[in-house]
Amino acid sequence: MNKLKTLCFIFLSSLVMGIGAYADSELEEIMDGMNDDYKLVGKALIKGANPADKQDYLAALQRIQEAMLKSKLMVPTLASTLGQEEKDKMVNDYRLEMIQAIIALLQVETDILKDDYIAAKASFGALKESKKRGHDAYQEEDE
Ligand code: HEM
Repeated sequence: MNKLKTLCFIFLSSLVMGIGAYADSELEEIMDGMNDDYKLVGKALIKGANPADKQDYLAALQRIQEAMLKSKLMVPTLASTLGQEEKDKMVNDYRLEMIQAIIALLQVETDILKDDYIAAKASFGALKESKKRGHDAYQEEDE
């Protein structure tokens, strides 16, 4: 009987996880995809970047930038739950915030190209703040 219960549990869990994965929005997938690169650069700048890894940081920043350019034109899942007028306003404001994030990202890239890792750390702070503002305002609460 216990075995049957365990099997049922495994089956139902995988079903729920499967549905969850299927329900991920394209924006979520893009955001997830840039998370490792964001952490790589952020950790390096906070702990003390290694100039020998400069090309790795630049490659990671380029990938984040491409992901952000795509994200900029997307509609947050939260906006899709609103009426037309509120939705339009949210999409507009979301895009403005995404531009702020891209500007900060370009500044991090500029600083690293100039081998100024102290400035890059400060610029990364602006990116982090934009990310926080973006998530506070436009990311749905956990279901
Ligand atoms: C480089 C900085 C950023 C990183 C690394 C990042 C990462 C993430 C991650 C890991 C998620 C969760 C995905 C999931 O639930 O599977 C997420 C979701 C989200 N992020 Fe970001 N994010 C960044 C910047 C931003 C900015 C600047 C904005 C807004 C202007 C934003 C808006 C959102 C939204 C709206 C979602 C929910 C997705 C949806 O609505 O479908 N993010 N982000």
